[in-house]
Amino acid sequence: MGLNVIMLGAPGAGKGTQAERFARQRGLPKISTGEILRQGIKDQLPVALVTEAKMDRGELVDDETMVTIVRERLARPDTEGGFVLDGFPRTVSQARSLDAIVDERGNGPLVVVDIVVPEEDLVRRLAGRLICSKCGTNAAPADGPEMTCRQCGETLVQRADDSQQVVLERLKIYHRATEPLVDYYRGRPTFRTVNGAQPPDRVARELDATIDDAAGEGARAALGAPGSSRR
Ligand code: AP5
Repeated sequence: MGLNVIMLGAPGAGKGTQAERFARQRGLPKISTGEILRQGIKDQLPVALVTEAKMDRGELVDDETMVTIVRERLARPDTEGGFVLDGFPRTVSQARSLDAIVDERGNGPLVVVDIVVPEEDLVRRLAGRLICSKCGTNAAPADGPEMTCRQCGETLVQRADDSQQVVLERLKIYHRATEPLVDYYRGRPTFRTVNGAQPPDRVARELDATIDDAAGEGARAALGAPGSSRR
């Protein structure tokens, strides 16, 4: 059975940071829909180029495009042992499509982790975030003075959608379209919340234990163990 994880959370909650770390440690592919779109724009792929204006305004890309991208990515062999999804699903419609994909795969339930951070921290984090102009990696605080990427040495810049006005729009859209996912998933035995307002190492430790616990619960539920419920 695979370990199929999705990380929910508002913009700036640390989904990308934690998904990267967790996926590396567990040898799973990290699938970030924001990164796939940004890379596609850099590579001038038509499917991504049509999303660029929406992304720059902080709006969501349409469900059909996103589901097609994720369905194709989850069909690749490296997802056999599971995956860590960052930034998908973002609407209830996307969540329903993901459930259908997971059912078709028949390779274990979804573990859903909601990373919770107060809004004022989110705004502060995104206002201060710098990314590499070449590879898109988030800069660590220590990279600041040199203003170069620790991965490839290129210049650090502000992400196109991290201006104050766009961040506020992203948060508004998160509350309207994505937060309802918490209610969509809450009743499942594999749903958990994690406190994201702690130093990254502590968030990582909490996530590690939480995901293992939820995955165990999911496995018991799949076997129909007493006290557990299927989704
Ligand atoms: P996406 O790239 O997914 O952006 P997002 O969800 O807004 O997430 P962020 O990358 O801003 O934040 P994060 O939670 O990953 O935090 P991070 O770890 O980077 O999507 C971009 C756009 O693509 C969307 O607006 C939309 O247009 C489109 N899109 C993508 N997926 C879509 C979908 N499914 N449907 C429709 N449209 C879609 O951390 C943020 C900062 O905080 C960093 O500087 C980091 O170093 C810092 N930080 C992280 N953890 C901590 C901590 N514990 N303490 C202090 N600082 C921390």
